[in-house]
This record gives sequence, structure tokens and C-alpha cells, in this order.
Amino acid sequence: MKTIKSPDEMQRVALDLKRAGKTIGFVPTMGFLHEGHLSLMKLARTRCDVLVVSIFVNPTQFGPAEDLDAYPRDFERDEFLCAQQGVDLIFYPEPGAMYSADSSVWVDEEALSGVLCGASRPGHFRGVCTVVAKLFNLVQPDLAVFGEKDAQQLRVIERMVRDLNFPVEIVRGPIVREPDGLAMSSRNKYLSEEQRRHALCLRRSLDLITSSVSKGTRNVSSLRKSMVDLIGEIPGAEIDYIEFVADDSLKPVLEVADRTLVALAVKFGKTRLIDNTVLVV
Ligand code: PAJ
Repeated sequence: MKTIKSPDEMQRVALDLKRAGKTIGFVPTMGFLHEGHLSLMKLARTRCDVLVVSIFVNPTQFGPAEDLDAYPRDFERDEFLCAQQGVDLIFYPEPGAMYSADSSVWVDEEALSGVLCGASRPGHFRGVCTVVAKLFNLVQPDLAVFGEKDAQQLRVIERMVRDLNFPVEIVRGPIVREPDGLAMSSRNKYLSEEQRRHALCLRRSLDLITSSVSKGTRNVSSLRKSMVDLIGEIPGAEIDYIEFVADDSLKPVLEVADRTLVALAVKFGKTRLIDNTVLVV
């Protein structure tokens, strides 16, 4: 396994691999890897000759009041975990190497990015789309794997790839959870022991409505209320949003239909956690 820091070198190596007829699989990450990230690597590993993982805490997707500086980092541990997954190349650019000081071109997705996390984090998906487009140009992947954990991000990237004709297949990786149901996230590290216990309310609220839907409830306002009530009982849990949207358009729905995406974000102190499920009726 090799680590490449320079964007130019990454692109040179990738283009050479393509010329040699190799297929490239790619898992973009911000590091501080956990089983969720590793599951995406496992998925990609079976489908490519060369597996590339990027580790880059992308400044342009963080708002001014967000946790860019505090975002957890541990490159040595990440390197070890990547080696265990059979990663061939880690792309690990220096913070300043990815953007010119006078960068002025952005990728802005306009239909799916304004709701859910995009409503609470203005500019977030512009940063995500721009960095992923840049990474695709540097890594030249045939396929790239993204996690369902970030349901909106996945759909925004799929739209970007479709609308800008990137020659990349986007593969969806299922959400990986802790044994008690909490979706794995690098940000779980910020939680106190008590908040960690309370954080189970995200998954529990999703389980609750999944069960109501399986018993026939379709009305979104009553389903949403049962989630608000359950989370409202939890000390310190502050709901950022709970939304029921069509899986493809991310437009709000009033009745649950086949493939309704339920997504929520809940804050515990400064830590904002997200989770989601797709209801199939
Ligand atoms: P990061 O939060 O590090 O996540 C990298 C990838 O891991 C994303 O595709 C995310 O959906 C996936 N992932 C995270 N937790 C997961 C879980 N519990 N189960 C399954 N997959 C999970 O998402 C980003 O980084 C950045 O926005 C990035 C795409 C790298 C652009 O900067």
C-alpha cells in the first residue's frame, strides 16, 4: 500500500493505471475510519483492480461555526485499517494542496441540496460536490462507493454524476450500526457516555415509525409526531429536522408511499447526528 500526498502525482498514477487497463475503485472519506467506512472498502475491493481511498477533511463543506478544526484525525490508525482492507493507494493531500487560494469554480447541485441537511448547513453540498468532482478528476475511478448513512449526499452525488456525465458508477453501501443500533459516525466520538446512550433515540424513532407503517399508518403528520414525542422525552436531544420526502426528488410527502425517505438530524450539545431509513410499502 502506498500513500500519495500530491494531487498531481495522484492524477499521474491514476492515468497510468487506466492506460494499463486497470479498473479503479474509490472510497472518498474524511478519515477517522470506522466499520462504516471499512464496509465501503470491502464492497469496492471485490469490484476493481486497484482500490483507492482518500482521506481529506474538506474545508469547503464546513460552515464557519462548524467543527472543521475539531474534526477527529488519526492518520496512522487509518493507514493501518486501510492496509487490512487491501487498499492499494491512500490519497492524503495536505490541507492547502487541494484548493488554490483564488479558487473560483464550484459545483452547485440545485434541486436536492436545499432541504434536509442542506437547509441547516448552507453551502455544505456545494463543498461536497466540488471536492468529489475534484477527487474524481484526480483518482479517475470506474466506480465509487458512498454510504446510505448520508442519504442526501449520496443522492446529490448521483445527480452530479448524471448531470455532468462523470464516467463513474456510484455504488450505494448500506448503513453500518453499532450493536445497539447507533449509526456509526466519526462524530460519535464527541458524545459523553450519557449522550451516547441518549443518541439511541434516532434509531428508535425510525424503528417506531417503520413498525407503524407496517401496521398500515400512512399519515406523515401522525408518524412525525410520534418521532417528535419519542425524541422529546430524551434529555438534551434537540431536533434539527425530521423529514419525510420522496426518495428520488427529496420533495416532502404528506402520505407515506413506496420509497419514502425518512431522514432526521438531532443535536446533543454541539454534536449533530443524522440517521435515515427508506420506508417500503
Ligand atoms: P465521511 O463522513 O468520512 O464519510 C465517508 C463515507 O463513509 C461516506 O460515503 C459516508 O456515507 C460513509 N459512511 C459514514 N458512516 C457510515 C456508516 N455508519 N455506514 C455506512 N457508510 C458510512 O462523507 C464524507 O466523509 C465527505 O462528505 C466526503 C464524501 C468524503 C467528501 O468530503
